[in-house]
Amino acid sequence: MTSELLTGIGELTTNDPERGGPHGGLLGRMTDAALVVEGDRIAWVGGAADAPAADRRTELDGRAVLPGWVDSHTHLVFAGDRSEEFEHRMAGHAYEAGGIRTTVRATTEATDEELRTGLAARRAVARRNGTTWMEIKTGYGLDVAQEARLARLAAEVTPDVTFLGAHVVPPGVDADDYVALVTGEMLDAVRPWARWIDVFCERGAFDPDQSRRVLEAGKAAGLGIRLHGNQLGEGDGVRLAVELDAASVDHCNHLSARDIEALGSSQTVATLLPACDLSTREPFPPARALIEAGATIALASNGNPGTSNTTSMAFCVATAVLQMRLTIEEAVWAATAGGARALRRHVALDGEPAIGAIIPGHRADLHAIDAPSVSHFAYRPGMDLTHAVWEAGSRR
Ligand code: NIG
Repeated sequence: MTSELLTGIGELTTNDPERGGPHGGLLGRMTDAALVVEGDRIAWVGGAADAPAADRRTELDGRAVLPGWVDSHTHLVFAGDRSEEFEHRMAGHAYEAGGIRTTVRATTEATDEELRTGLAARRAVARRNGTTWMEIKTGYGLDVAQEARLARLAAEVTPDVTFLGAHVVPPGVDADDYVALVTGEMLDAVRPWARWIDVFCERGAFDPDQSRRVLEAGKAAGLGIRLHGNQLGEGDGVRLAVELDAASVDHCNHLSARDIEALGSSQTVATLLPACDLSTREPFPPARALIEAGATIALASNGNPGTSNTTSMAFCVATAVLQMRLTIEEAVWAATAGGARALRRHVALDGEPAIGAIIPGHRADLHAIDAPSVSHFAYRPGMDLTHAVWEAGSRR
């Protein structure tokens, strides 16, 4: 196994509260730091002056290093383009869940190879911008064979595949009949590739009873639970997610005081999707109130062709700081350690190392930027700051 010493790190974001002394803060930030990667893992973290020898040495000349972004919410297996729908929306029309069906048509018509090529290109762009871990949902198939195909293609790219057959009811199908299909034959067909089950619990998609049936069937089949909720209006999504101990409830734009309180005293992560909020002109979620209530926040891109056609986590971090009033520390933590918690990968799982922090034993997912500090993500919004990315110890 070869080792690599990264040294000359001006600022190292470890996400380890034990690091950085009294000024380390939430991010466990260290200055004048170094780290050693051995194989696919972090082997050592400390001051540059104390760094041990290694097979290779990379000098970072004062750049900041942070954990790779953990993008815990994407819908990246799709075909087609919805820029017309986007233009219509920007002319003042509201987003409706029904736009999903446009992508279902285009995706169903695409070959495996076309979908694979599109997905690989999107994954490559995300990686170039610092994303080292990604969850990917199905949901643009909506029949048994198509959903299984999307899960199989997603599993070529990530072990965090989410079955979202319950994205929207296909046209001409009775909603309860469709839920029976999702919780029966479709779940069986997708199960070999999926780790999670998800449902779009929202007006125009699935009601709370239908959502519960979907999630309980997934849980009985051994899948973890996540849920799209409270995106377009207040509703029962958050309540259901917390009751079922979902790993994450995503969107959270419209929350009651009880929703905020429930998230604050649960293990369910509130995953916020700022690029989607801009692209749908939904009000931003009450991020400060969530944090003050004690809720754990993740930030994710929600990369998809309808509501958030981006995989830029740096853009999400900048927006979360500039518009949602997160501090720099809160936003960077939410896009790294928060994403890892939303996927329950902040601890080792099935022999795979934990992600989302720069701690010995964790997977060596690293993002070096052309800036002295992570504050530059919001201070210089929209700028390409990525200098280099290491994924599982390999420089990409
Ligand atoms: O997370 N909300 C539901 N699903 C996606 C939208 C997908 C689409 O419109 O194609 C989302 O925003």
